[in-house]
Amino acid sequence: MAAAAALASSSAAVATFGRGANRPASSVRRDVASIRSTTSSTSSSSSRRGPGAGPVPVVRAAAKSSSALDELLGAKIIAPNGGGDAEVRDSVTKYYGETLQTSDDLKTSACCTPNLLPKKIKSILASVPDEVKAKYYGCGSPTPLGIDGLRVLDLGSGSGRDCYVAAALVGESGSVIGIDMTDAQLDVARRHAETYCVDALGYAAPGNMEFRKGTIEDLRAANVEDNSVDLIISNCVINLSPDKPAVLSEAMRALADGGEFYFSDVYCDRRLPEDLRSHEILLGECLGGAMYVEDFKRLCVATGFADPRVLEGHEIEIKDEALAALLGEAKFYSITYRLFKLPPGRLESLCEDYGQYALYKGTIDGHPNAYSLDDHHRIEKNKPFLVCGNTASMLGETWLGKHFEIVGNRDVHYGLFDCGPSPVAGGGGGGDAPAGGACC
Ligand SMILES: C[S@@+](CC[C@H](N)C(=O)[O-])C[C@H]1O[C@@H](n2cnc3c(N)ncnc32)[C@H](O)[C@@H]1O
Repeated sequence: MAAAAALASSSAAVATFGRGANRPASSVRRDVASIRSTTSSTSSSSSRRGPGAGPVPVVRAAAKSSSALDELLGAKIIAPNGGGDAEVRDSVTKYYGETLQTSDDLKTSACCTPNLLPKKIKSILASVPDEVKAKYYGCGSPTPLGIDGLRVLDLGSGSGRDCYVAAALVGESGSVIGIDMTDAQLDVARRHAETYCVDALGYAAPGNMEFRKGTIEDLRAANVEDNSVDLIISNCVINLSPDKPAVLSEAMRALADGGEFYFSDVYCDRRLPEDLRSHEILLGECLGGAMYVEDFKRLCVATGFADPRVLEGHEIEIKDEALAALLGEAKFYSITYRLFKLPPGRLESLCEDYGQYALYKGTIDGHPNAYSLDDHHRIEKNKPFLVCGNTASMLGETWLGKHFEIVGNRDVHYGLFDCGPSPVAGGGGGGDAPAGGACC
């Protein structure tokens, strides 16, 4: 039923947003057919799968993805002048390189982070240069604690604030690369990098933090190798991309097994019409390119990031009256997602019960007593916590693995795992964002 609904809504998206007129009808049909098989294979377990059925096969999206997937999922942005991907990037570069001088120039709270940062990050920020902080346009806090020694990549690093924070968190043995396409932003990020690493952090050399010019849809061109990073972060950028399937595919390619894509971005509670998606200011303010959150989850699953988890979400305030009038009833949310890269098939499309439990060792910096994997898994130190197979893999087979003991394996299956509702989904935790987790 859910699979059928997904397909029906995807087909509706083609009718509404389809831009396939400039492509041969047969190629559109071919792409749609391949997505249809992806969608049906990944969502087939909406009906219960037998214990012997094995993991649901995961189909990873092709790296080159300007395809019907964009159109099906409303992922495509249209440039203000009606142009293509290059014009979208030009418009965004102009917005962040010229129109905005500091975060005070923003017209909405989309690119603003509520002041709920962990103590540790607040204390690191105290030594981040003011110019870097003044040009910060993020919408969340995508820098997890406990990442010492990891190789971090920041997509759309802007003036570099999150990279500066990550450089302190990974320590001298880790590394941070920021990628951005806007020279004015890169200039600020690079200007202070050396003094910050050497003087503020006390590192022997500035080499563990670097900023590269490039687009997040083609990380290979910025010399980001396959399986070369442990953690990808991003803050309020993916909505600006004209080719979101390519961004997710590139993240999947760049991550090492057990790595994670941990990012905050803007999502909408509906598919926006073309006139809003091509509006220059709405695009720049991170609203016009915001994907319908359910389509975004479908895109994650189609790329191989099965079971996207929501860590946090909050509604965005549209302060500008003219923009608010244009947007009508559409609601926008900043959501922090966690997508784990595990071997294909390891993450199933539903939470399955193998009788496993997790023990948190209390060893993650800043989380001495309990750790929140997402909005509905807060795991107390040393207290056995029953987990589904997916959660067991996320905690035990990723960069988090050294901090958890997973008891049990997948040898015996006990049926579907009974998860509670997600608080962020409005199921009792007081969160105000739409449902995000594909898990439970
Ligand atoms: C809203 S700002 C966020 C910057 C930074 N993450 C922060 O939190 O301050 C968006 C940034 O993403 C960059 N950007 C947008 N689309 C991009 C793309 N397709 N490729 C590379 N960079 C992009 C822009 O140049 C801009 O610096």
